[in-house]
Amino acid sequence: MTSTERLQPGIPAPVVLPSEARERLIVALDFPSASEALALVDRLGGVCQWFKVGLELYLAAGNSIVQALRDRGHSVFLDLKLYDIPNTVAGAIRSVAALGPDLLTVHASGGPVMLQAAAKAVADSPNGPVLLAVTVLTSMDDNQLQSVGVTDSPANQVLRLARVAVASGIRGLVCSPEEVAQLRSALGPEILLVTPGIRPAGAEVGDQKRIATPGAAITAGASYLVVGRPITQAPDPAAAARAILDEIATVSQPVSKTSDL
Ligand code: C5P
Repeated sequence: MTSTERLQPGIPAPVVLPSEARERLIVALDFPSASEALALVDRLGGVCQWFKVGLELYLAAGNSIVQALRDRGHSVFLDLKLYDIPNTVAGAIRSVAALGPDLLTVHASGGPVMLQAAAKAVADSPNGPVLLAVTVLTSMDDNQLQSVGVTDSPANQVLRLARVAVASGIRGLVCSPEEVAQLRSALGPEILLVTPGIRPAGAEVGDQKRIATPGAAITAGASYLVVGRPITQAPDPAAAARAILDEIATVSQPVSKTSDL
């Protein structure tokens, strides 16, 4: 991370935290090409520090998009949602760590052995990313979970997988705004909670179901907010981003320690 210390998985908590609004907003670059993604980055004109590269963009543009963002001085959340046997996930993390992303996702449902292997692979990589575990995909409701043999509620399953991830040495989670308060209270102040599903008041909801305003998500305990279309599809993306940053700043405590979150 450029503006926060890098975390070491499994090592208790140095204080890391996004202390300014600009360090807490991650813009999702959901574009099919590097040129479109970088055009948006340029339109933002430095208003935003963080960008998320997901599978659509990464599979189209490859490592060069991560490099291009880093060359511009940005922080990168590489959202690859890795899920495979432990040896393969560890190898994937070692490969991708050389690129220097700041945040990287793995699926918590890969289980403790896979998660521990992932955490070790990061610890063994110089400047490895901070891992975030994805618990239950927000597209999974009760019926979807039951169809794959999970009879517990989505909320209980999220908490179960979150605890497995944390016990395996993972320091961050991706979660919906609905889950932030529960996870923050169950897991304490030092876990990074990265939250998509953010919609400023009055914005198009699109296909998101469990949503919150930037202020509500931060107040509930989110460390970072992931925002895509409300910024990328806005007539003036920089103005839209500035408005979200203002809202984050308004509700944020002037913090310098995670324990203050
Ligand atoms: O455009 P929007 O703000 O809905 O984009 C949210 C981003 O966060 C997208 O890249 C989406 O894939 C991602 N995401 C999500 N819900 C999750 C995990 C990731 O919306 N549970």
